[in-house]
Amino acid sequence: MKQRTPVVINILIIIVLLTIFYYLFVQSYAFLSSPYFWGTVIIAGILAYIQGAIGDLVENNKFKKLSPEEKAAYLAEKKVPYFKRLYNAAFKKQSAAEEKDILIDHGFDGIMELDNQLPKWWVGLFYFGTAFCILYVAAYSFTDFAHPINEYEQEYKEQIAAIEIYSKSQPPVTIETAKYSADNIAEGKELFKTNCASCHKEDGGGGIGPNLTDKYWINQPEKTLFKNVFHMDWNGSPNNPAMRAFGKNGEVSGAEIEKIAAYVYHINQELPPVTEAQGGAAPQGTEAHWEKE
Ligand code: HEC
Repeated sequence: MKQRTPVVINILIIIVLLTIFYYLFVQSYAFLSSPYFWGTVIIAGILAYIQGAIGDLVENNKFKKLSPEEKAAYLAEKKVPYFKRLYNAAFKKQSAAEEKDILIDHGFDGIMELDNQLPKWWVGLFYFGTAFCILYVAAYSFTDFAHPINEYEQEYKEQIAAIEIYSKSQPPVTIETAKYSADNIAEGKELFKTNCASCHKEDGGGGIGPNLTDKYWINQPEKTLFKNVFHMDWNGSPNNPAMRAFGKNGEVSGAEIEKIAAYVYHINQELPPVTEAQGGAAPQGTEAHWEKE
């Protein structure tokens, strides 16, 4: 007569399967504090216990019908701890006598085929795999679980939120704190293209707005070139509403103006001016004598 799996083991297996099942659908361990989870665990536990009790009754009945030797063998086997028995069963080797019983009646080249039972660990893995597969496909089909697109969107949102929190925690860049950095030129160029090039041209040569690459400036509220550009971009021109207050209006942030001003500084100080012959606007204002940054 076969030995049965202890109830405790069955209950443990049920808890593990339920945990996997809940996790697939809830996608966090929050369910561990939910009464529904523990309710299902308790109900499943009680059912497993009842099943075990019925099994005991059946086993007792069968036991009575065994011969004395069978009874002794059964009791000896029962003394072996469960996990040891499981281990033995998983890696059992047939004796030669047993092999005769399971020999299939064909062979080739002296190799005979045996009708072996599948190892228990293999069968267990197979059942687990099948159950997991069904659960996984169900979770994949009816929930957001394991969907690359949903996961991507979720992570994207989280990153955007994290960036927002980060930039809020950063002190805003003002004309006092802004500094020229050559690292900002490339990004500044892109920002200049989107916000300023319509009037000042991509190369800063000017059109509706003045040429930003030459020495002549209409507005010179600040002593250094970098700060002057920051000032103009933040406050706009007091004389010409076409040059609006991009910073004050909230169209570009202080951090962005810091980059734009670095680009304007770069094209004014480090590149040759865009002359009229090259399509630049004629000089306007007076010659500026900028202090060093
Ligand atoms: C709608 C057209 C327009 C846009 C867009 C524009 N500007 Fe201007 N900008 C002007 C005009 C016009 C002036 C001349 C103002 C004046 O006469 O006082 C000017 C002047 C300036 C000056 C001072 C130049 C001087 O000689 O005094 C700077 C610096 C400047 N703009 C930077 C920028 C930056 C940086 C941006 C992008 C964020 C920008 N502008 C976007 C039209 C524009």
